Amino acid sequence: MSAVARALARRFPREFVWGVATSAYQIEGATHEDGRGDSIWDEFCRRPGAIKDGSNGDRACDHYHRLDEDLDLIAGLGVRAYRFSMAWPRVQPQGAGAWNDKGFAFYERLVDGLLARGIAPYLTLYHWDLPQALQEKGGWMSRDTTVRFAEYASEVARRLGDRVASIATHNEPWVIAILGHEAGIFAPGLRSQKTAMQVAHHLLLSHGFALEALRSQGCRAPLGIVLNQAPIHAATDSPEDLAKAHLDDGLTIRWYMDALLHGRYPDDVLSFLGADAPHVLEGDMDAIRQPLDFLGINYYTRNVSGTGAPRDPVQSGKEVTDMGWEVFPRGLSELLTRLNKDYRLPPLYIMENGAAYRDRLVDGRVADADRTRYLQSHIAAMADALEAGVDLRGYFVWSLLDNFEWADGYSKRFGLVHVDYETQRRTLKDSAIWYRGLCGEHVGIHAPRVAGADAGG
Ligand code: FCB
Repeated sequence: MSAVARALARRFPREFVWGVATSAYQIEGATHEDGRGDSIWDEFCRRPGAIKDGSNGDRACDHYHRLDEDLDLIAGLGVRAYRFSMAWPRVQPQGAGAWNDKGFAFYERLVDGLLARGIAPYLTLYHWDLPQALQEKGGWMSRDTTVRFAEYASEVARRLGDRVASIATHNEPWVIAILGHEAGIFAPGLRSQKTAMQVAHHLLLSHGFALEALRSQGCRAPLGIVLNQAPIHAATDSPEDLAKAHLDDGLTIRWYMDALLHGRYPDDVLSFLGADAPHVLEGDMDAIRQPLDFLGINYYTRNVSGTGAPRDPVQSGKEVTDMGWEVFPRGLSELLTRLNKDYRLPPLYIMENGAAYRDRLVDGRVADADRTRYLQSHIAAMADALEAGVDLRGYFVWSLLDNFEWADGYSKRFGLVHVDYETQRRTLKDSAIWYRGLCGEHVGIHAPRVAGADAGG
């Protein structure tokens, strides 16, 4: 096993950053403590039927109360970096007006605790938990929220900007817009394409406004955004399926990439949307196209598009995870090399990659060989992309802990570390031990030679 880790570690440069990721609502709990306001996810979870197991984030992994233990856990994995998100309603309960110092104190302890352990903090401002008070004023449908977001970003940067390794504005704007406002399966549970596309525009605009604000106040942390991306493959070679795949590529990849990097939306998508295209004011596209210090990509699987009914990957003999997502590591190298060809990219980070499996804790051990294989194959795909010239700087496993997997509640386990939700006991799965080995191999391979030691190694 460690031979695989060593062979993989060798394919990455010394500076390459290995990390693990989480998000606030999925792990913190303490949703009504120390002045935190309600978020749209607290509200969404109260809707009957919204969450598969009827659960919510009230306790989650109780991370808010177990911060020191969890920091030690992260340090014990030997990773160089930790990606986390801040809950906006914890630091500004109403999404406007007063700041909550107790909320900020938690994130200051988190950041300082990471630094004290030699781990770089990668901060995400928005991982889906909008203050409910803002939702009541229209949420991301309202242009005013973009201004509120820039104020929130400024305050965070003022308090933490000198101590974090990077700041990402949004996590997965496509998911927020489409799953939250068109499919209605994520908070706030709306169902309109027109609303969703206006939200997508406002998310990008708020990203641009935030970057402008942070740079004008002299924030030194590298600034960027995190997009979910999957290569879209046509179900068949029929012209209809190829056209559908191209459109879906436009709606999921080019919409965001063209706006961020070229300052325009793709024409084919605009004409498909027709009257559902967002209202864009003069200057908006320039505001969105801010220089990016980095771009984060979350990769889990590919998507297959066509005009016929979607084919179940299991029935077509594909290997899938417990989410029903096809295991398709080649898609990661394909995606990265394609982006590298089509755009002038800033440095890239894989900000999320990982898999849910039906883990079982037996006698203190979780034998999740399938997860380890998933990680190995995706890390190998990253190495292929690096060798093909992609400027990839880091990789974060989703996730450190089993956690609240949104509409799936606690039924899906993505963690490297198993969580017993009754006792809150954490147990390293076999995959965590393997990943710790990879991080160790990487350090060992790149260790500076000790003067006088045998130079032959
Ligand atoms: C991503 C989310 C993350 C997690 C994984 C499985 O879309 O960013 O919070 O739910 O999927």
